[in-house]
Amino acid sequence: MLINMPPHIISTLPRLVAIPLLLLACSLFFLPRRHDHPSAFNPVHYQGKNVTEAGSTFGAAVQGFWQDLASALLAAQPQCKPLQLVKDDIGSAADWRPLEPERKHADRLAGFTDDDETALFRAHYAMRTSAQHLGSKLSFAKGTTGIVTTANAVYMPVFLVSLRMLRRTGCNLPVEVFIDDWSKYEPKICDTILPSLQARCVVLSNVYDTAEYIKQPDHYQYKVFAMLFSTFQHVLFLDSDTFPVYDPTILFSTAPYTTHGLVTWPDYWALTISAHFYHIAAIPEEPSQARFTTESGQLMINKDVHRESLLMMVYYNYYGPDYYYTLLSQGSHGAGDKETFVQAAMAVGLPYYQVRSGPRAIGRHMNGTFRGSAIAQADPGLDYEYLTPMRSHIHPSDQWQNTDLAHPVPAVEKSLNRTRKAPRRPRPVFLHQNMLKLDPAKVLVDKSQPTYELDGTPHRMWGSKEDMVEMLGYDVERRLWDVIAEEGCREDQASRTCGEIRGFVREVFGWMDSIDRPW
Ligand SMILES: *[C@@H]1O[C@H](CO)[C@@H](O)[C@H](O)[C@H]1NC(C)=O
Ligand SMILES: *[C@@H]1O[C@H](CO)[C@@H](O)[C@H](O)[C@H]1NC(C)=O
Ligand SMILES: *[C@@H]1O[C@H](CO)[C@@H](O)[C@H](O)[C@H]1NC(C)=O
Repeated sequence: MLINMPPHIISTLPRLVAIPLLLLACSLFFLPRRHDHPSAFNPVHYQGKNVTEAGSTFGAAVQGFWQDLASALLAAQPQCKPLQLVKDDIGSAADWRPLEPERKHADRLAGFTDDDETALFRAHYAMRTSAQHLGSKLSFAKGTTGIVTTANAVYMPVFLVSLRMLRRTGCNLPVEVFIDDWSKYEPKICDTILPSLQARCVVLSNVYDTAEYIKQPDHYQYKVFAMLFSTFQHVLFLDSDTFPVYDPTILFSTAPYTTHGLVTWPDYWALTISAHFYHIAAIPEEPSQARFTTESGQLMINKDVHRESLLMMVYYNYYGPDYYYTLLSQGSHGAGDKETFVQAAMAVGLPYYQVRSGPRAIGRHMNGTFRGSAIAQADPGLDYEYLTPMRSHIHPSDQWQNTDLAHPVPAVEKSLNRTRKAPRRPRPVFLHQNMLKLDPAKVLVDKSQPTYELDGTPHRMWGSKEDMVEMLGYDVERRLWDVIAEEGCREDQASRTCGEIRGFVREVFGWMDSIDRPW
């Protein structure tokens, strides 16, 4: 502000006052605000400071809220023994069978009694009531939109590849990367590299540890706490190994996000929720074959609309390892947290939209078997428009066919003399590289991976370029290896990792040398 003053004003002020004033103004400008009602997130302002410390300062409102929430969680502890599953394998109960809608929910709880169920029911009711009261105190910066993820030392290199893929789409949404505590903090990554990519580290323990008697979070639980403590109102959560193939910003301004405020994506498997969950939550039962179970590599949530859902998500995850992960996914597939998100919205009666186009495996055939390395997830806007048909006895396919557009009387259809084509199936927007982790230092080590032929020759891992372009719009794998090379060569161009990746890229794509750019 001072900078814009006409020169005569500055000159009329005694220099001894003007200079400290200028310094004060500058330092106010550069100092990050506390996070009660943060203004637009702009990491450029933080550059050169201890960005992470500044970005992990939680204001009194957030801390007060968390202390109240922590008390509510502790007060709603289920007063029964931890749940266990019977030993035998779940078998085909995990297969989604939409053509058998009457199938019962899997029931695999071991020694579960009515007393246990009643204890869980009462505790749930207590938490449900608290969520109703605490919802209005949830703190976030109104109107802000951003991407949230969690990473530890193992996943940070993988995340840096995902982040560069995100930026290559032209997306400039800010990114908050939650790390557990200061022991996981790396100054170079958190204070220099991430800010240069419009992302920053947030140290969860800075706020988490302000509540007493609360258990330290565990593996799957970080996700929900990252969403809870993110400053953004509109959140796209991405696992560290998930990235978009085109700019996802538009998804925030289209249905189903705008209509439902909670968007989830499907996994390959059926729901394996215990019917007892619905009794405990005191809500109607969802049919066992109503949808696929959730694959939580990506998720969108409007925290203003879903305040109470978010608090119930926290509850199901906080008591996940002992109770809710077991109740909500009795199968052996996928993460423990996967069903906590949709069920939380259901428990509070708020809408959710789970993408109805099934996930698609990305990979290639090797020695006669398909080797998947990623899951492709559909664009929710296109999915919503496509009106994906639920499979049924009259329409066993989940894709529209040309015949679905025909007049039901063949003679009439013929006389109409027209050609109508079914719409194109929704294209994928997210790739969750869940099998082969893209850490530049490790990705090429294992020669049994689809990155090699049986004889050890380097090979594309996702199938042909033509198939990529057909499914995703461009050759995403080629861009991906470009990014892996960029990240793998960032520290040291002479390193073995860098040399190996460049050699791989040269051999597989044969274009590296022809491009003149600093890697
Ligand atoms: C940033 O601040 C944190 C917390 O005070 C500290 O642990 C860390 O070492 C600091 N980083 C640097 C580079 O000074
Ligand atoms: C390829 O498949 C055949 C038949 O399934 C198997 O016997 C062979 O060991 C496989 N080769 C490798 C290198 O995995
Ligand atoms: C059907 O329509 C096409 C052009 O739209 C026309 O060339 C053709 O003669 C028509 N056939 C019949 C049987 O009417």
